[in-house]
Amino acid sequence: MQNKKIKEKEFKLLPNSGILSAPVYKGGEQPDLSKHEIIKLNSNENPLGPSKLATDALKNSFEFINNYPSSNHEKLRKAIAKVHAINFENIICGAGSDELISFICQCFCSTNDEVIYTEHGFAMYKISALLRGANPVKVLENERVADVDNILKSCNNKTKIIFLANPNNPTGTFLDSSKIKYLLDNLPDTVLMVIDGAYAEYIENFDGGLSFVENYDNLIILRTFSKIYGLAALRIGWSYSSNSITQILNRVRGPFNVSSPAIAAATAAVLDCDYTRHCVAENLKNREWLSKQLKQLGLCTTNSKANFLLVDFCSENQANKAFDFLKDQNIYVRKVFDYGLKKSLRITIGTDFECKLVKKNIQNFLELTNEI
Ligand SMILES: Cc1ncc(COP(=O)(O)O)c(C=O)c1O
Repeated sequence: MQNKKIKEKEFKLLPNSGILSAPVYKGGEQPDLSKHEIIKLNSNENPLGPSKLATDALKNSFEFINNYPSSNHEKLRKAIAKVHAINFENIICGAGSDELISFICQCFCSTNDEVIYTEHGFAMYKISALLRGANPVKVLENERVADVDNILKSCNNKTKIIFLANPNNPTGTFLDSSKIKYLLDNLPDTVLMVIDGAYAEYIENFDGGLSFVENYDNLIILRTFSKIYGLAALRIGWSYSSNSITQILNRVRGPFNVSSPAIAAATAAVLDCDYTRHCVAENLKNREWLSKQLKQLGLCTTNSKANFLLVDFCSENQANKAFDFLKDQNIYVRKVFDYGLKKSLRITIGTDFECKLVKKNIQNFLELTNEI
Protein backbone atom coordinates (compact mmCIF):
# COMPACT_ATOMS: atom_id res chain seq x y z
CA MET A 1 0.00 0.00 0.00
CA GLN A 2 2.77 2.39 0.98
CA ASN A 3 4.76 1.43 -2.13
CA LYS A 4 1.76 2.21 -4.31
CA LYS A 5 1.45 5.67 -2.71
CA ILE A 6 5.13 6.45 -3.33
CA LYS A 7 4.83 5.32 -6.94
CA GLU A 8 1.74 7.53 -7.48
CA LYS A 9 3.65 10.50 -6.02
CA GLU A 10 6.51 10.01 -8.42
CA PHE A 11 4.29 9.69 -11.45
CA LYS A 12 4.80 12.88 -13.46
CA LEU A 13 3.01 12.21 -16.74
CA LEU A 14 -0.30 14.00 -17.03
CA PRO A 15 -2.96 12.71 -19.44
CA ASN A 16 -4.77 14.98 -21.90
CA SER A 17 -7.13 17.50 -20.37
CA GLY A 18 -10.45 16.14 -19.12
CA ILE A 19 -9.36 12.53 -18.70
CA LEU A 20 -8.90 12.69 -14.95
CA SER A 21 -12.27 14.39 -14.48
CA ALA A 22 -14.21 11.60 -16.22
CA PRO A 23 -15.74 8.98 -13.92
CA VAL A 24 -15.08 5.35 -14.80
CA TYR A 25 -18.22 3.74 -16.27
CA LYS A 26 -19.90 1.39 -13.82
CA GLY A 27 -22.09 -1.15 -15.60
CA GLY A 28 -24.18 -3.95 -14.15
CA GLU A 29 -22.23 -6.66 -12.34
CA GLN A 30 -20.90 -9.33 -14.74
CA PRO A 31 -20.89 -12.56 -12.69
CA ASP A 32 -19.23 -15.75 -13.95
CA LEU A 33 -22.22 -17.29 -15.71
CA SER A 34 -20.44 -20.59 -16.32
CA LYS A 35 -20.16 -21.26 -12.59
CA HIS A 36 -23.50 -20.25 -11.12
CA GLU A 37 -27.15 -20.45 -12.08
CA ILE A 38 -27.73 -16.76 -12.37
CA ILE A 39 -30.65 -14.84 -13.81
CA LYS A 40 -28.92 -11.85 -15.28
CA LEU A 41 -31.29 -8.95 -15.75
CA ASN A 42 -28.88 -6.07 -15.23
CA SER A 43 -27.53 -5.15 -18.69
CA ASN A 44 -30.56 -5.23 -21.00
CA GLU A 45 -29.29 -8.22 -22.95
CA ASN A 46 -31.62 -10.44 -24.98
CA PRO A 47 -32.68 -13.33 -22.68
CA LEU A 48 -33.52 -15.46 -25.75
CA GLY A 49 -29.96 -15.14 -27.08
CA PRO A 50 -29.02 -14.57 -30.73
CA SER A 51 -30.58 -16.09 -33.84
CA LYS A 52 -29.36 -19.62 -34.62
CA LEU A 53 -28.25 -18.29 -38.01
CA ALA A 54 -25.95 -15.86 -36.17
CA THR A 55 -24.36 -18.53 -33.96
CA ASP A 56 -23.86 -20.77 -37.01
CA ALA A 57 -22.16 -17.90 -38.88
CA LEU A 58 -20.04 -17.22 -35.79
CA LYS A 59 -18.86 -20.82 -35.65
CA ASN A 60 -18.04 -20.83 -39.37
CA SER A 61 -15.98 -17.65 -38.99
CA PHE A 62 -13.54 -19.40 -36.61
CA GLU A 63 -11.91 -21.11 -39.58
CA PHE A 64 -10.45 -17.75 -40.65
CA ILE A 65 -9.35 -16.16 -37.40
CA ASN A 66 -5.69 -16.17 -38.47
CA ASN A 67 -6.69 -13.54 -41.06
CA TYR A 68 -7.39 -9.87 -40.39
CA PRO A 69 -11.06 -8.92 -40.70
CA SER A 70 -12.50 -6.86 -43.53
CA SER A 71 -11.59 -3.24 -42.93
CA ASN A 72 -14.66 -1.78 -44.64
CA HIS A 73 -17.29 -4.19 -43.23
CA GLU A 74 -19.03 -4.06 -46.59
CA LYS A 75 -20.91 -7.34 -46.20
CA LEU A 76 -22.45 -6.25 -42.92
CA ARG A 77 -23.15 -2.70 -44.08
CA LYS A 78 -24.96 -4.05 -47.15
CA ALA A 79 -27.04 -6.41 -45.00
CA ILE A 80 -28.02 -3.58 -42.62
CA ALA A 81 -28.83 -1.34 -45.61
CA LYS A 82 -31.05 -4.01 -47.16
CA VAL A 83 -33.05 -4.60 -43.98
CA HIS A 84 -33.53 -0.89 -43.21
CA ALA A 85 -33.78 0.32 -46.84
CA ILE A 86 -30.95 2.82 -46.38
CA ASN A 87 -27.70 3.63 -48.19
CA PHE A 88 -24.86 1.28 -47.17
CA GLU A 89 -22.26 3.93 -48.00
CA ASN A 90 -23.40 6.04 -45.06
CA ILE A 91 -23.05 3.27 -42.47
CA ILE A 92 -20.03 2.85 -40.19
CA CYS A 93 -19.50 -0.14 -37.92
CA GLY A 94 -17.90 0.14 -34.51
CA ALA A 95 -16.91 -2.06 -31.59
CA GLY A 96 -20.28 -1.50 -29.95
CA SER A 97 -22.08 1.83 -30.11
CA ASP A 98 -19.78 2.83 -27.24
CA GLU A 99 -16.91 3.06 -29.73
CA LEU A 100 -19.04 5.17 -32.07
CA ILE A 101 -19.97 7.54 -29.20
CA SER A 102 -16.26 7.91 -28.55
CA PHE A 103 -15.51 8.57 -32.28
CA ILE A 104 -18.24 11.23 -32.33
CA CYS A 105 -16.73 13.07 -29.35
CA GLN A 106 -13.21 12.67 -30.76
CA CYS A 107 -14.33 14.26 -34.05
CA PHE A 108 -16.77 16.93 -32.93
CA CYS A 109 -15.93 18.32 -29.49
CA SER A 110 -12.91 19.55 -27.59
CA THR A 111 -11.94 21.73 -24.62
CA ASN A 112 -14.67 24.13 -23.44
CA ASP A 113 -17.23 22.96 -25.98
CA GLU A 114 -20.59 21.97 -24.56
CA VAL A 115 -22.19 18.56 -25.02
CA ILE A 116 -25.85 18.20 -24.08
CA TYR A 117 -27.33 15.04 -22.59
CA THR A 118 -30.70 14.51 -20.93
CA GLU A 119 -31.19 14.27 -17.16
CA HIS A 120 -31.27 10.47 -17.07
CA GLY A 121 -29.39 9.95 -20.33
CA PHE A 122 -27.06 7.00 -20.90
CA ALA A 123 -23.85 7.49 -18.85
CA MET A 124 -21.35 7.17 -21.71
CA TYR A 125 -22.39 10.51 -23.25
CA LYS A 126 -21.12 12.49 -20.27
CA ILE A 127 -18.02 10.33 -19.86
CA SER A 128 -17.03 10.52 -23.54
CA ALA A 129 -17.50 14.32 -23.56
CA LEU A 130 -15.36 14.72 -20.42
CA LEU A 131 -12.62 12.56 -21.93
CA ARG A 132 -12.34 15.12 -24.75
CA GLY A 133 -12.12 18.04 -22.30
CA ALA A 134 -15.63 19.22 -23.21
CA ASN A 135 -18.28 20.33 -20.69
CA PRO A 136 -21.25 17.98 -20.43
CA VAL A 137 -24.51 19.89 -19.90
CA LYS A 138 -27.37 18.03 -18.25
CA VAL A 139 -30.83 19.09 -19.47
CA LEU A 140 -33.87 18.44 -17.27
CA GLU A 141 -36.51 15.97 -18.42
CA ASN A 142 -40.23 16.28 -17.87
CA GLU A 143 -41.40 13.40 -15.69
CA ARG A 144 -38.53 11.26 -16.95
CA VAL A 145 -39.24 12.03 -20.61
CA ALA A 146 -36.72 14.07 -22.63
CA ASP A 147 -37.99 17.65 -23.02
CA VAL A 148 -37.33 19.00 -26.50
CA ASP A 149 -37.91 22.64 -25.52
CA ASN A 150 -35.49 22.35 -22.61
CA ILE A 151 -32.90 20.90 -24.99
CA LEU A 152 -33.37 23.76 -27.46
CA LYS A 153 -33.22 26.36 -24.67
CA SER A 154 -29.89 24.90 -23.49
CA CYS A 155 -28.19 25.36 -26.87
CA ASN A 156 -25.76 28.26 -27.21
CA ASN A 157 -22.76 29.08 -29.37
CA LYS A 158 -20.60 26.62 -27.42
CA THR A 159 -22.95 23.67 -27.99
CA LYS A 160 -21.42 21.08 -30.30
CA ILE A 161 -23.29 17.82 -29.73
CA ILE A 162 -26.65 16.69 -28.34
CA PHE A 163 -26.96 13.05 -27.30
CA LEU A 164 -30.47 11.63 -27.03
CA ALA A 165 -31.20 7.95 -26.47
CA ASN A 166 -34.63 7.11 -27.90
CA PRO A 167 -35.94 5.08 -26.11
CA ASN A 168 -33.72 6.16 -23.26
CA ASN A 169 -31.78 3.96 -20.87
CA PRO A 170 -32.49 3.72 -17.91
CA THR A 171 -35.97 5.29 -18.11
CA GLY A 172 -37.27 3.46 -21.20
CA THR A 173 -39.20 6.59 -22.21
CA PHE A 174 -39.53 7.66 -25.82
CA LEU A 175 -40.10 10.67 -28.09
CA ASP A 176 -42.18 10.12 -31.20
CA SER A 177 -41.01 11.17 -34.67
CA SER A 178 -42.94 14.47 -34.63
CA LYS A 179 -40.99 15.62 -31.53
CA ILE A 180 -37.70 14.54 -33.10
CA LYS A 181 -38.55 16.46 -36.27
CA TYR A 182 -39.41 19.56 -34.24
CA LEU A 183 -36.05 19.29 -32.49
CA LEU A 184 -34.13 18.85 -35.74
CA ASP A 185 -36.01 21.71 -37.44
CA ASN A 186 -35.16 24.12 -34.63
CA LEU A 187 -31.52 23.24 -34.06
CA PRO A 188 -28.73 25.42 -35.42
CA ASP A 189 -26.97 23.43 -38.16
CA THR A 190 -23.66 23.86 -36.28
CA VAL A 191 -24.96 21.49 -33.61
CA LEU A 192 -24.65 17.75 -34.17
CA MET A 193 -27.69 15.72 -33.11
CA VAL A 194 -27.01 12.11 -32.11
CA ILE A 195 -30.04 9.83 -31.73
CA ASP A 196 -29.03 6.62 -30.03
CA GLY A 197 -31.44 3.86 -31.01
CA ALA A 198 -29.91 1.05 -28.93
CA TYR A 199 -33.49 -0.06 -28.14
CA ALA A 200 -35.26 1.24 -31.27
CA GLU A 201 -35.94 -2.26 -32.64
CA TYR A 202 -38.20 -2.96 -29.66
CA ILE A 203 -40.76 -0.48 -31.01
CA GLU A 204 -42.84 -1.86 -33.85
CA ASN A 205 -43.04 0.20 -37.04
CA PHE A 206 -40.46 2.72 -35.80
CA ASP A 207 -37.35 3.49 -37.86
CA GLY A 208 -35.50 5.21 -35.00
CA GLY A 209 -35.00 8.37 -37.07
CA LEU A 210 -33.09 6.71 -39.96
CA SER A 211 -35.28 8.39 -42.58
CA PHE A 212 -34.40 11.86 -41.21
CA VAL A 213 -30.74 11.43 -42.23
CA GLU A 214 -31.65 12.20 -45.86
CA ASN A 215 -32.78 15.70 -44.88
CA TYR A 216 -30.52 16.65 -41.97
CA ASP A 217 -26.75 16.82 -42.48
CA ASN A 218 -26.18 17.31 -38.76
CA LEU A 219 -27.72 14.01 -37.63
CA ILE A 220 -26.19 10.69 -36.60
CA ILE A 221 -28.27 7.62 -35.75
CA LEU A 222 -26.63 4.94 -33.59
CA ARG A 223 -27.63 1.28 -33.38
CA THR A 224 -26.24 -1.77 -31.61
CA PHE A 225 -26.15 -5.54 -31.95
CA SER A 226 -25.87 -5.86 -28.15
CA LYS A 227 -29.57 -5.69 -27.34
CA ILE A 228 -32.26 -7.27 -29.54
CA TYR A 229 -29.69 -9.17 -31.64
CA GLY A 230 -28.24 -10.86 -28.55
CA LEU A 231 -24.58 -10.29 -29.50
CA ALA A 232 -23.35 -8.07 -26.63
CA ALA A 233 -20.17 -10.10 -26.12
CA LEU A 234 -19.05 -9.58 -29.72
CA ARG A 235 -19.01 -5.77 -29.41
CA ILE A 236 -20.60 -4.48 -32.56
CA GLY A 237 -22.79 -1.50 -33.44
CA TRP A 238 -23.30 0.91 -36.34
CA SER A 239 -23.99 4.53 -37.21
CA TYR A 240 -25.90 6.15 -40.07
CA SER A 241 -25.29 9.73 -41.13
CA SER A 242 -24.84 12.12 -44.06
CA ASN A 243 -21.88 11.66 -46.45
CA SER A 244 -19.94 14.49 -44.82
CA ILE A 245 -20.28 13.13 -41.28
CA THR A 246 -19.61 9.55 -42.40
CA GLN A 247 -16.34 10.58 -44.02
CA ILE A 248 -15.24 12.46 -40.90
CA LEU A 249 -16.01 9.51 -38.58
CA ASN A 250 -14.19 7.14 -40.92
CA ARG A 251 -10.97 9.14 -40.47
CA VAL A 252 -10.72 8.18 -36.79
CA ARG A 253 -11.91 4.59 -37.15
CA GLY A 254 -9.10 2.06 -36.90
CA PRO A 255 -8.87 -0.14 -40.02
CA PHE A 256 -9.65 -3.37 -38.12
CA ASN A 257 -11.89 -2.04 -35.35
CA VAL A 258 -14.45 -4.84 -35.68
CA SER A 259 -13.58 -8.56 -35.65
CA SER A 260 -14.61 -11.03 -38.38
CA PRO A 261 -16.59 -13.25 -35.96
CA ALA A 262 -18.57 -10.14 -34.97
CA ILE A 263 -19.13 -9.15 -38.60
CA ALA A 264 -20.23 -12.67 -39.58
CA ALA A 265 -22.66 -13.06 -36.67
CA ALA A 266 -24.10 -9.56 -37.00
CA THR A 267 -24.67 -10.01 -40.75
CA ALA A 268 -26.65 -13.21 -40.18
CA ALA A 269 -28.49 -11.69 -37.21
CA VAL A 270 -29.72 -8.59 -39.00
CA LEU A 271 -30.94 -10.64 -41.97
CA ASP A 272 -32.95 -12.99 -39.72
CA CYS A 273 -35.96 -10.66 -39.53
CA ASP A 274 -38.35 -13.43 -38.43
CA TYR A 275 -36.29 -14.06 -35.31
CA THR A 276 -36.05 -10.32 -34.58
CA ARG A 277 -39.84 -10.05 -34.83
CA HIS A 278 -40.20 -13.02 -32.47
CA CYS A 279 -37.91 -11.31 -29.89
CA VAL A 280 -39.89 -8.05 -30.16
CA ALA A 281 -43.18 -9.89 -29.56
CA GLU A 282 -41.82 -11.85 -26.59
CA ASN A 283 -40.40 -8.69 -25.01
CA LEU A 284 -43.65 -6.78 -25.45
CA LYS A 285 -45.72 -9.61 -23.97
CA ASN A 286 -43.44 -10.07 -20.95
CA ARG A 287 -42.93 -6.35 -20.34
CA GLU A 288 -46.68 -5.72 -20.28
CA TRP A 289 -47.20 -8.72 -18.01
CA LEU A 290 -44.47 -7.77 -15.53
CA SER A 291 -45.41 -4.09 -15.32
CA LYS A 292 -49.04 -5.08 -14.64
CA GLN A 293 -47.99 -7.56 -11.95
CA LEU A 294 -45.70 -5.01 -10.28
CA LYS A 295 -48.48 -2.42 -10.38
CA GLN A 296 -50.75 -4.88 -8.56
CA LEU A 297 -48.02 -5.17 -5.91
CA GLY A 298 -48.11 -1.37 -5.55
CA LEU A 299 -44.92 -0.63 -7.50
CA CYS A 300 -44.93 1.96 -10.29
CA THR A 301 -42.85 1.63 -13.42
CA THR A 302 -42.11 4.21 -16.11
CA ASN A 303 -43.86 3.76 -19.45
CA SER A 304 -40.99 1.80 -20.99
CA LYS A 305 -40.81 1.13 -24.71
CA ALA A 306 -37.57 -0.86 -24.35
CA ASN A 307 -36.54 -4.27 -22.97
CA PHE A 308 -36.44 -3.21 -19.34
CA LEU A 309 -38.56 -1.60 -16.65
CA LEU A 310 -37.55 1.15 -14.27
CA VAL A 311 -39.25 0.15 -11.02
CA ASP A 312 -39.86 2.67 -8.24
CA PHE A 313 -39.71 1.59 -4.60
CA CYS A 314 -40.94 3.73 -1.72
CA SER A 315 -37.45 4.68 -0.50
CA GLU A 316 -33.76 4.36 -1.27
CA ASN A 317 -33.47 1.91 1.61
CA GLN A 318 -36.23 -0.28 0.21
CA ALA A 319 -34.69 -0.26 -3.28
CA ASN A 320 -31.33 -1.30 -1.79
CA LYS A 321 -32.92 -4.07 0.24
CA ALA A 322 -34.89 -5.34 -2.77
CA PHE A 323 -31.66 -5.41 -4.80
CA ASP A 324 -29.92 -7.47 -2.10
CA PHE A 325 -32.94 -9.76 -1.66
CA LEU A 326 -33.06 -10.52 -5.39
CA LYS A 327 -29.30 -11.02 -5.55
CA ASP A 328 -29.54 -13.56 -2.71
CA GLN A 329 -31.92 -15.49 -4.99
CA ASN A 330 -29.33 -15.21 -7.81
CA ILE A 331 -31.40 -12.60 -9.66
CA TYR A 332 -29.18 -9.71 -10.74
CA VAL A 333 -30.90 -6.40 -11.49
CA ARG A 334 -29.39 -2.92 -11.85
CA LYS A 335 -29.11 -0.13 -9.32
CA VAL A 336 -29.47 3.24 -11.03
CA PHE A 337 -28.32 5.46 -8.15
CA ASP A 338 -25.58 6.93 -10.35
CA TYR A 339 -28.35 8.28 -12.62
CA GLY A 340 -29.86 10.09 -9.64
CA LEU A 341 -32.62 7.46 -9.41
CA LYS A 342 -32.06 6.39 -5.85
CA LYS A 343 -35.42 4.77 -5.17
CA SER A 344 -35.48 2.77 -8.40
CA LEU A 345 -34.12 -0.46 -9.84
CA ARG A 346 -33.85 -1.24 -13.54
CA ILE A 347 -34.93 -4.75 -14.43
CA THR A 348 -34.32 -6.26 -17.87
CA ILE A 349 -37.28 -8.16 -19.29
CA GLY A 350 -36.35 -11.83 -19.16
CA THR A 351 -38.02 -14.98 -20.45
CA ASP A 352 -41.54 -15.96 -19.25
CA PHE A 353 -39.96 -18.06 -16.53
CA GLU A 354 -37.58 -15.28 -15.43
CA CYS A 355 -40.35 -12.67 -15.31
CA LYS A 356 -42.48 -14.97 -13.15
CA LEU A 357 -39.53 -15.50 -10.82
CA VAL A 358 -38.91 -11.75 -10.56
CA LYS A 359 -42.56 -11.14 -9.73
CA LYS A 360 -42.65 -13.93 -7.14
CA ASN A 361 -39.46 -12.78 -5.43
CA ILE A 362 -40.48 -9.12 -5.34
CA GLN A 363 -43.79 -10.21 -3.84
CA ASN A 364 -41.95 -12.30 -1.22
CA PHE A 365 -39.69 -9.34 -0.49
CA LEU A 366 -42.62 -6.95 -0.01
CA GLU A 367 -44.45 -9.43 2.22
CA LEU A 368 -41.34 -9.96 4.36
CA THR A 369 -40.82 -6.23 4.76
CA ASN A 370 -44.54 -5.77 5.48
CA GLU A 371 -45.07 -3.53 2.48
CA ILE A 372 -48.14 -5.50 1.36
C1 LIG B 1 -28.66 3.86 -24.79
C2 LIG B 1 -27.45 3.02 -24.97
N1 LIG B 1 -26.55 3.35 -25.89
C3 LIG B 1 -25.45 2.62 -26.09
C4 LIG B 1 -25.18 1.49 -25.33
C5 LIG B 1 -23.91 0.75 -25.57
O1 LIG B 1 -24.12 -0.35 -26.36
P1 LIG B 1 -22.96 -1.18 -27.02
O2 LIG B 1 -22.97 -2.50 -26.36
O3 LIG B 1 -23.33 -1.24 -28.46
O4 LIG B 1 -21.66 -0.45 -26.81
C6 LIG B 1 -26.09 1.10 -24.35
C7 LIG B 1 -25.81 -0.06 -23.50
O5 LIG B 1 -26.39 -0.32 -22.50
C8 LIG B 1 -27.25 1.89 -24.16
O6 LIG B 1 -28.15 1.57 -23.22
